[in-house]
Amino acid sequence: MNRLKILKHFAEIAPVYRHVRTLDPEPIFAIKDILVKHKKWKKPLKIADIGAGTGRYTELLIKILKPENVKTILVDASFEMLSVGKTHMGRYNAHFVNSLAEHLPFKNEVFDVIMVFNAIHHFDFKKFIREARRILKTGGFIFIYTRTQEQNRNSIWGQYFPKFSEKEYRLFWKDELIKKIKRLKNFKVISYIEFEYPRISTIDELLKKAFAKHYSTFYLYKDDEYAQAIEMFKENLMKYYEPDEQIIHTDENTLVGLRKISRE
Ligand SMILES: C[S@@+](CC[C@H](N)C(=O)[O-])C[C@H]1O[C@@H](n2cnc3c(N)ncnc32)[C@H](O)[C@@H]1O
Repeated sequence: MNRLKILKHFAEIAPVYRHVRTLDPEPIFAIKDILVKHKKWKKPLKIADIGAGTGRYTELLIKILKPENVKTILVDASFEMLSVGKTHMGRYNAHFVNSLAEHLPFKNEVFDVIMVFNAIHHFDFKKFIREARRILKTGGFIFIYTRTQEQNRNSIWGQYFPKFSEKEYRLFWKDELIKKIKRLKNFKVISYIEFEYPRISTIDELLKKAFAKHYSTFYLYKDDEYAQAIEMFKENLMKYYEPDEQIIHTDENTLVGLRKISRE
């Protein structure tokens, strides 16, 4: 998907984004544990959330690590997503930067932590890592939270929504992700955690999310193809579930932790 299309998608979904996406505290608690285990920083921790969107996860991180321990900067290519973030995060000492992940307007070695949640598949990975390596202090951490291709396929969308998995070409396969992170110069892989979240949804709730295009994957369909896919999704679900049934399904995600162990 080209950049303009991505920006259009996020501009449209920004007002409802926080309502249509689930928020899971587990990866933030995992980050806290890792930071505590490796404690080697001067407070407050300087944290950049790249592809921060409306700041859902930045806000959770601030709450869990406590506002006095962190100084956060939210970076995003979408002005509209950041604008929604500002309305939610006024009470925190957070800063907002409308910029691309591949060209970060920060000095060298200024951040203790970089987090990228549900966004790495939108970035040019190599260019982002080059920038992350530059702005991160030696000893600093990058946390990448994403779905692998396998995890995407296992979801209720992967199982029942026509072409959902085939269309989503941007996510990494697990092997590919592991190979990529192990190869990174100046970084050491310090954690690789897979999460499974039980969910309960009715067909109507799932359809509402699909109509809101809660995943950018849905922008990879043409309009008429998308309308047909929604109909087919409904039909597929109705083969197995009653209209008001509470469907139990699972979402899966991966958290990768990297540490910058040396300078370039
Ligand atoms: C799926 S949203 C995730 C937002 C947030 N991290 C969360 O989990 O709620 C992906 C975000 O990445 C941003 N994005 C996409 N491409 C980008 C790029 N090249 N540089 C910076 N941000 C980008 C989008 O604008 C969007 O806000």
